[in-house]
Amino acid sequence: KRLILVGPPGSGKGTQSPIVKDEYCLCHLATGDMLRAAVAAKTPLGIKAKETMEKGELVSDDLVVGIIDDALKKPSCEKGFILDGFPRTVAQAEKLDEMLSKRGVKVDKVLNFAIDDAILEERITGRWIHPSSGRSYHTKFAPPKAPGVDDVTGEPLIQRKDDTAAVLKSRLEAFHKQTEPVIDYYTKKGIVANLPAEKSPQEVTAEVKKALS
Ligand code: AP5
Ligand code: ZN
Repeated sequence: KRLILVGPPGSGKGTQSPIVKDEYCLCHLATGDMLRAAVAAKTPLGIKAKETMEKGELVSDDLVVGIIDDALKKPSCEKGFILDGFPRTVAQAEKLDEMLSKRGVKVDKVLNFAIDDAILEERITGRWIHPSSGRSYHTKFAPPKAPGVDDVTGEPLIQRKDDTAAVLKSRLEAFHKQTEPVIDYYTKKGIVANLPAEKSPQEVTAEVKKALS
């Protein structure tokens, strides 16, 4: 399947991605994870993106469209993919349509992680991530087996620079202004499934599976 996960910061996109990936054998492309890797590696792309990301604003459409266009060429993405955090503007959605129509394919489903803003601060400020795999944990809702350490690799967990209450405000503003129109864009195409993302991770997983069956 060819899927898009859309929702505000902390709505659970990254948490559900590995489960969707395992179940449907897809490639997982998360523009946020890819940009953070570029920032950490200090590539030209990372240097361009760093400041914008730390302010909680969106990086330029051209930059992320370029990343996705390259990534979709991977053989593992030929049969299907999950896009997590892309497209985030209507311009990106239109570019994606172009890229896919060149390949003779289209998006099957858009999973919309619908949730009230008020819940997100606690989720974001309690999050710890394993940078190389993108796995995320939460001090209260999804604690690792040992504090501060990734369950699978034993490597240390870190907090994202943009995971503060202040930066979350800008990220939410960007979501409402620039990304909500993307949901309308796909609603008009009749391919959006709205998920109650405030439920527990297990309940959300069940909803995801229902939407994809
Ligand atoms: P990105 O990395 O995409 O961040 P985001 O969209 O803000 O989303 P998050 O990763 O914060 O949320 P999530 O939904 O994945 O939450 P998670 O599952 O981890 O983007 C970062 C930045 O990169 C952007 O601000 C922008 O600058 C740039 N960027 C990226 N893509 C771009 C694009 N296309 N165009 C332009 N710029 C772009 O969950 C959060 C926490 O809650 C975790 O701790 C988790 O354990 C916990 N949790 C998850 N589900 C539940 C649940 N059901 N109940 C309780 N707790 C839960
Ligand atoms: Zn994420």
